[in-house]
Amino acid sequence: NTPDTDYKIADISLAEFGRKEIDIAEHEMPGLMSIRKKYAPSAPLKGVRVTGSLHMTIQTAVLIETLKDIGADVRWASCNIFSTQDHAAAAIAASGTPVFAWKGETLEEYWDCTLDALTFPGNKGPELVVDDGGDVTLLIHKGYELENGSKWVDEPASSHEEQIIKNLLKRVAKERPGFWHSVVKDWKGVSEETTTGVHRLYQMLEAGKLLVPAINVNDSVTKSKFDNLYGCRESLADGLKRAMDVMLAGKLAVVCGYGDVGKGCAHSLRAYGSRVVVTEIDPINALQASMEGFEVNTVESTLGRGDIYVTTTGNKDVLTVEHLKSMKDQAIVCNIGHFDNEIQVDALHKVEGVTKVNIKPQVDKFTFKGGSSIFLLAEGRLVNLGCATGHPSFVMSNSFSNQTLAQIDLWANKDRYENKVYILPKKLDEEVARLHLEKIGVKLTTLTKDQAAYLGVPVEGPYKPEHYRY
Ligand code: NAI
Repeated sequence: NTPDTDYKIADISLAEFGRKEIDIAEHEMPGLMSIRKKYAPSAPLKGVRVTGSLHMTIQTAVLIETLKDIGADVRWASCNIFSTQDHAAAAIAASGTPVFAWKGETLEEYWDCTLDALTFPGNKGPELVVDDGGDVTLLIHKGYELENGSKWVDEPASSHEEQIIKNLLKRVAKERPGFWHSVVKDWKGVSEETTTGVHRLYQMLEAGKLLVPAINVNDSVTKSKFDNLYGCRESLADGLKRAMDVMLAGKLAVVCGYGDVGKGCAHSLRAYGSRVVVTEIDPINALQASMEGFEVNTVESTLGRGDIYVTTTGNKDVLTVEHLKSMKDQAIVCNIGHFDNEIQVDALHKVEGVTKVNIKPQVDKFTFKGGSSIFLLAEGRLVNLGCATGHPSFVMSNSFSNQTLAQIDLWANKDRYENKVYILPKKLDEEVARLHLEKIGVKLTTLTKDQAAYLGVPVEGPYKPEHYRY
């Protein structure tokens, strides 16, 4: 590939449209734009090779161009087969940034794109990674372990996707001996976007396997308490509407999980006039949902009456094939959690006598032998990015400001950090919030010196102790 064609996307002619929407998004992303202004002159990521694996949307395009503005040498892939906005990918490719993403990739293509995004000219790997769900981190770790003698690739795969990853690693082992060790040698850190990816990082840390310092961006307050909550509060309904054009008022909607994402989904559906039932396994979250006036019950108790099901748990097998078979005729089923294993989609395909009719991209109707049907959205992958365009720019500006600050921090402290999982300091969290106030007309009250002394906090913050929960 020459630099001009170092990309794989759907259609480069969409670049102009993409650019127009990027211009609109920039006005809604004040955090990223002020980070550009502040850091571009000193270029703290000058020449640093950064691989991103994060939904290739218009908002992500603004993140990519921010990283480039502060000096980074960027390559990008999406972190989901359905989440790319092709005009966004085209605009990024046209501006000369290698990007490997299109809407509707196969899983084989998806993992090839991930490998392309982490392979810089000269077979070099990234120095920093922006991950969403942890797929780049997983691939590098598995590749490295394979070169160290791990037998994982030869063990039976637990899923079709796992087999694809194993095949890819075998191919790389043959074509590029020693590749993963050279990648790990240069790799200085990863910043992780989402709950599920963070969960994987802590598991690797506990197993003593984490190879680099990691920043948990998800648990910045200005990320999970905004993107996961207010983002889903808008983008879930967007996905449902674009997929099904369904009237939400009067429907019985079942939201599985009442964490940050579940809270946003449940409140959104209620605001439209749905009656909402929440399911939970955690007594604290269950009590919260109940105190907000939601019925909290089991999935089983809703079968036959639920019109819409949304999984938000980050867990697996939340809606089983038995649940799917017993649902009310024409129930709409979707997932907004990171991976597609919340709903037993594989098992659904194998139900005896089931027929599948594709209505349009990302909308399928499954009819069971007895005659009743369900609609499955985005094949069980995250519905807001598969059936709509993900969260709006303003909330993503908060998430991506944290991402950018995390990347700057990882590079600046690369010799100090250990291979652990870190959270950005509260001062930076408050700073991200501050950058978004003016745009929405917020006037902040300033503490007097006397008040600050009374509370025992600096006038300029940080204002809350680490244990404060917001
Ligand atoms: P969270 O941990 O705050 O919430 C998940 C909740 O599900 C918890 O309260 C947990 O107790 C509950 N839960 C677990 N197993 C359950 C089960 N079997 N039945 C009922 N409830 C169960 O996590 P958060 O931040 O809400 O994220 C959830 C998922 O959404 C993750 O996979 C995350 O990566 C993803 N996510 C997706 C976004 C999107 O735009 N689609 C945005 C942000 C996060």
